[in-house]
Amino acid sequence: MFLRILCFLPLFFSIILAATATQWRSRSIYQILTDRFARTDGSTTAPCEPGYEGFCGGTWYGISQKLDYIQGMGFDAIWISPVVEQVSNPTRAYHGYCAKNIYSLNENFGSAEDLKSLSMALHARDMYLMVDVVPNHMAFDGNATDVDYSTFHPFNDRSFFHNVCFITDWTNVTQIQQCWLGGEVNPLPDLNTTSPKVRTEWNTWIRSLVANYSIDGIRVDTAQNIEQSFFPDFSKAAGVFALGEVASYYTQYACNYQSFMDGILGYPAYYTSVWFFNNTQALSYNMLYDFLNTSSLCRDTSLVGEFMENHDKPRFPSYTSDMSLVKNNLAYIMLKDGIPIVYQGQEQHLNGGTDPFNREAIWLSGYNTDAELYKFIKQLNAIRKLAISKASSIVTSFLTSKATVVYYDAHNVAFSKGPAGARVLTVINNNGAKAGNYTLSIPRSGYTPRTEVVELFTCTRMTIGRSGNLAVTVVEGKPVVMYSYSLLRGTGWCGS
Ligand SMILES: *[C@@H]1O[C@H](CO)[C@@H](O)[C@H](O)[C@H]1NC(C)=O
Ligand SMILES: *[C@@H]1O[C@H](CO)[C@@H](O)[C@H](O)[C@H]1NC(C)=O
Ligand SMILES: *[C@@H]1O[C@H](CO)[C@@H](O)[C@H](O)[C@H]1NC(C)=O
Ligand SMILES: *[C@@H]1O[C@H](CO)[C@@H](O)[C@H](O)[C@H]1NC(C)=O
Ligand SMILES: *[C@@H]1O[C@H](CO)[C@@H](O)[C@H](O)[C@H]1NC(C)=O
Ligand SMILES: *[C@@H]1O[C@H](CO)[C@@H](O)[C@H](O)[C@H]1NC(C)=O
Ligand SMILES: *[C@@H]1O[C@H](CO)[C@@H](O)[C@H](O)[C@H]1NC(C)=O
Repeated sequence: MFLRILCFLPLFFSIILAATATQWRSRSIYQILTDRFARTDGSTTAPCEPGYEGFCGGTWYGISQKLDYIQGMGFDAIWISPVVEQVSNPTRAYHGYCAKNIYSLNENFGSAEDLKSLSMALHARDMYLMVDVVPNHMAFDGNATDVDYSTFHPFNDRSFFHNVCFITDWTNVTQIQQCWLGGEVNPLPDLNTTSPKVRTEWNTWIRSLVANYSIDGIRVDTAQNIEQSFFPDFSKAAGVFALGEVASYYTQYACNYQSFMDGILGYPAYYTSVWFFNNTQALSYNMLYDFLNTSSLCRDTSLVGEFMENHDKPRFPSYTSDMSLVKNNLAYIMLKDGIPIVYQGQEQHLNGGTDPFNREAIWLSGYNTDAELYKFIKQLNAIRKLAISKASSIVTSFLTSKATVVYYDAHNVAFSKGPAGARVLTVINNNGAKAGNYTLSIPRSGYTPRTEVVELFTCTRMTIGRSGNLAVTVVEGKPVVMYSYSLLRGTGWCGS
């Protein structure tokens, strides 16, 4: 009997974790920078100048009052900024990545009751709460040489930290994991996460944070600056889906982290796609390979968080105002393998450049639900949900199937995703809105010959040819999404 329990325990835990990742797989995440999303009083006027570094007034209560806006776009999860108490310098504290006391909340964002209420309000809508957490470091206002360790809670002693050194060589893994981020002035003292006492503190903390606020998932900041062996116990203590930030272009390097935690952010696809859609250059064979690398190298591509903008990277429209190019990039990240993540403000076509200019206050746009990209993102979320629901009775579901490239040329890529009979064919290009209309002939569309298909944005119907071929018309550089017409029956889509 005793033996039996011992044998079952690990299995029991892994089932709980697997279930949690499974639940996240179908979700679609809206990323919120808490200070810049919504104020408690709902006010939408300045001040919060572009590039302003300091608190602009966004709160958890403010978010809870704007869930219609988020859910209206089809999102069923949000990721919010770190929630804990920060250093006092507001230029470092407003974003939440400069912790001082992890057992106290950032009062600028509200009270414990406000955070609990936000969590409850989300759950009442069957939405999930993902909270950003930062186990790699604490922050100190002042010089690296005079860090006052007693200001940190609970890591109130030098012995919890690595010795002072700064990362100078981003190819040296020892440095990446052991040296400090930040600068000589205003450093981010690096915790010695290999130390058992540090790990115990983090595991105890994450368990109680998740429990106190009914958190559904965590986004783990600067995960590549922590040794991988830290994550299995930390994830288990959290007991919820963990998505790690491994901000690397190198697919193999980023994917490796999936052996230690559930998910990673899709940085490899981010770099590839933004480069392709931003530059209107010809696709090279290596690039095409990059579109697919995560598929072949990640343990579970369905748990990679795919994005094209975030609070650390210049917004896509800061490179080009072309609406068709944004739409292609959006279609790519939302219909490929993985969990889509859209950063607040993309729906309003905000165009802030490098951080801090990419952290605009969303209220300045007035939460316009008629904005072109608000409506476009809503359509993409709906297409993904439709594809998920129609493939759910088939053994290989839409989510766990792998996207495959069925066609490409210098400026167009077509990929097919989903089980046979319920495939979504997405055709993307980087020609831009000024490109004339053209027809692409796709010899092997992935559909059975003579299937009647429909383009989901325009409702144009077509029939697959005798050899599985399909001729697709690209209008003004917009992305094209094809689906079996018969599967629309009863959905009301395209008059069906
Ligand atoms: C940090 O060090 C610099 C020179 O090393 C000095 O000028 C400055 O006053 C120091 N700042 C603080 C907050 O101690
Ligand atoms: C990596 O960095 C560490 C710490 O700075 C240093 O001791 C080591 O020699 C470096 N390794 C390589 C291969 O450069
Ligand atoms: C970090 O912790 C490990 C394990 O306890 C220990 O061996 C190492 O000396 C520590 N490093 C520092 C810089 O204190
Ligand atoms: C969770 O709540 C308990 C009980 O109030 C408290 O002791 C603990 O510090 C809280 N944990 C966190 C991470 O805030
Ligand atoms: C993708 O795979 C190709 C072929 O193996 C490789 O040359 C390329 O460097 C990979 N790209 C990334 C970003 O890892
Ligand atoms: C986008 O294009 C601009 C201008 O060509 C370039 O500077 C930038 O590096 C590109 N961004 C990415 C992510 O490729
Ligand atoms: C492209 O097709 C669209 C929709 O059919 C049409 O409105 C537009 O005028 C066409 N553009 C060109 C340049 O022919």
